[in-house]
Amino acid sequence: MKKIGVIFDLDGVIVDTAKYHFLAWKRVADTLGFEFTEEHNELLKGVSRVRSLEILLNIGTVALSEIEKRNALIRKNEDYLGYIRNMSADEILPGVLDFLNELDSKGIKYALGSASKNAPLILKQVGLYNRFEAIVDGNDVSKAKPDPEVFLIGAKKLNLAPKTCIVFEDAIAGIEAANRAHMISIGIGDKDTLNSANFNFNDLTKVPKDFIEVLMQRVG
Ligand code: BG6
Ligand code: MG
Repeated sequence: MKKIGVIFDLDGVIVDTAKYHFLAWKRVADTLGFEFTEEHNELLKGVSRVRSLEILLNIGTVALSEIEKRNALIRKNEDYLGYIRNMSADEILPGVLDFLNELDSKGIKYALGSASKNAPLILKQVGLYNRFEAIVDGNDVSKAKPDPEVFLIGAKKLNLAPKTCIVFEDAIAGIEAANRAHMISIGIGDKDTLNSANFNFNDLTKVPKDFIEVLMQRVG
């Protein structure tokens, strides 16, 4: 059997920070005077901070100068940091710790592949920073998801060929990035939204016990 590796997205897979991103973006929209709904927020998942602002401004049909955009990005992140500085281990999503323990017991290496520039802080807040073999985040990439760069760097850091890597993702842009990297994509969340994933589960508690073995045979 071939050696395999796992790459996890952070927001929405390891921790439920999407709600904090939503609150912080909603405040930007409120200030600019338009409505921003949870449905709109789906479009921002997995997408970089700068691109998220572009999408948000499109939703509100608002045009900002470069300086105003920079200020909106700073304000949004300050708000967001206010939420994540209060995070602790109880915000790790269901099934994550058991799944990581299982990977450890099988000697399977795992990395983080996140669009967030706040990923190291979040991992430290919830006590998971030292568990990953490698951390690749928004500070390490020049091209955001759906570009495969973040996952390809992750595979390199795990010393594995992309086709032997399994990616857990909750965002459409992230599934596309994993598919474009020729990795096995696992959608976490709504199956219809993530319909281009190779496999789908509602959360990590739903991953069958023998799933990793089955995948090892598939890539081997
Ligand atoms: C992704 C989130 O993980 O990170 C996006 O799904 C977010 O919603 C992106 O915009 C960038 O995050 P940050 O923390 O760098 O603003
Ligand atoms: Mg995500």
